[in-house]
Amino acid sequence: MSFDARDFRNALGCFPTGVVVVTAGSGRTLSGITVNSFASLSLDPPLVLWCLDRRSSRYRTFTTAENFTISVLCNGHRTISARLAVPGGYKLDGLKLTPTQSGPPAPAGALAVLECVREAIHDGGDHAIIVGRVLALAYRKTGKPLVFFRGRYGTLAGRA
Ligand SMILES: Cc1cc2nc3c(=O)[nH]c(=O)nc-3n(C[C@H](O)[C@H](O)[C@H](O)COP(=O)(O)O)c2cc1C
Repeated sequence: MSFDARDFRNALGCFPTGVVVVTAGSGRTLSGITVNSFASLSLDPPLVLWCLDRRSSRYRTFTTAENFTISVLCNGHRTISARLAVPGGYKLDGLKLTPTQSGPPAPAGALAVLECVREAIHDGGDHAIIVGRVLALAYRKTGKPLVFFRGRYGTLAGRA
């Protein structure tokens, strides 16, 4: 390899992404994690994916959860995103949450909410690729997204 881990991360950081929070569990076991490896996968069946670091203290929680909810964050969600990205900071206590139809709750105000059942977990090097089948969804038609680019938060200009 002609590059080190820092260069690899820096190069990947040039790809702007949205930011989602994945929630799993309920009540005292409710957990969340900030993720930007989310991607759409299949329209029929409706599948999405995200990747989880095998070294995460939340690994067992999110790889054993039968159901999880993926919430697309808006520009106003920077504090929530940062909080759920702190090592060990998986608790959603005190955050305003919106119930879903049958899955874990979502941060209030999310641009889109996808309620998923775990479809598969694939090997992805030092990450696990978690595939979810979307059972229910909701979305807003307005609102700016939270964007992650070169290691910093931003949003889109010129879009409501
Ligand atoms: C914008 C952003 C995107 C992230 N995306 C991912 C991701 O896709 N997968 C992942 O495992 N961790 C991701 N993280 C890191 C986790 O949110 C969190 O920091 C990490 O799980 C903390 O370690 P712990 O799980 O051992 O407590 C991301 C963090 C940030 C700030």
